[in-house]
Amino acid sequence: MPPSLTVRTALPSDADALAAYIAAIVAERLPVLFARDAPPTVEQVARMIARHADDARSALFVAVEKGAILGMLDFSGHARPQQHHVGSFGMSVARAARGRGVGTRLLRPLYAHAKKHGYRKLELEVFATNGPAIVLYESHGFVHEGRRRGAVMVGEEPVDLLLMGKGV
Ligand SMILES: CC(C)(COP(=O)(O)OP(=O)(O)OC[C@H]1O[C@@H](n2cnc3c(N)ncnc32)[C@H](O)[C@@H]1OP(=O)(O)O)[C@@H](O)C(=O)NCCC(=O)NCCS
Repeated sequence: MPPSLTVRTALPSDADALAAYIAAIVAERLPVLFARDAPPTVEQVARMIARHADDARSALFVAVEKGAILGMLDFSGHARPQQHHVGSFGMSVARAARGRGVGTRLLRPLYAHAKKHGYRKLELEVFATNGPAIVLYESHGFVHEGRRRGAVMVGEEPVDLLLMGKGV
């Protein structure tokens, strides 16, 4: 694990670097992520950072090393009162930094955040074809809770979405 890696809340001053980071992930066109036609603009990323800053129950974490963003985790609570105790997230790590523990480092502050804000459960959806992500979540105690069969088309191929969850 990189010794100089820090994980912290994204700041307004991260907008440019975070937009470039997301653009690089989008440009990979990974078959295990929801595709988008274009990456978000710097303004859209700045609004995303501001939205998270305005909502204490949500969180946007970045992993930073030597000034470069190596990963991000985007967490939000569910809106319905009966699901107030549940939050879900998405995350990614820069291609060159994968497999070095950055994903694990990004998840740790999420647990502290979830406890602090009274969440009782974390949920996520992952493409069934996303081996590294599934290994990461399983190793963090997320359990398989369901499977939405053929929920996404990857090219001509239907791919299942796995639902995973973990108590806080
Ligand atoms: C999934 C992802 C976030 C994992 O982050 P990471 O920094 O590479 O993960 P880590 O280095 O912390 O590894 C965590 C675990 O996954 C395992 N792992 C990592 N890369 C792996 C790979 N290519 N194949 C199999 N296992 C892998 C590690 O062995 C480790 O397991 P352990 O804790 O039992 O030793 C990263 O691969 C990524 O960004 N992928 C593309 C985007 C994506 O898929 N996001 C998730 C969408 S649900």
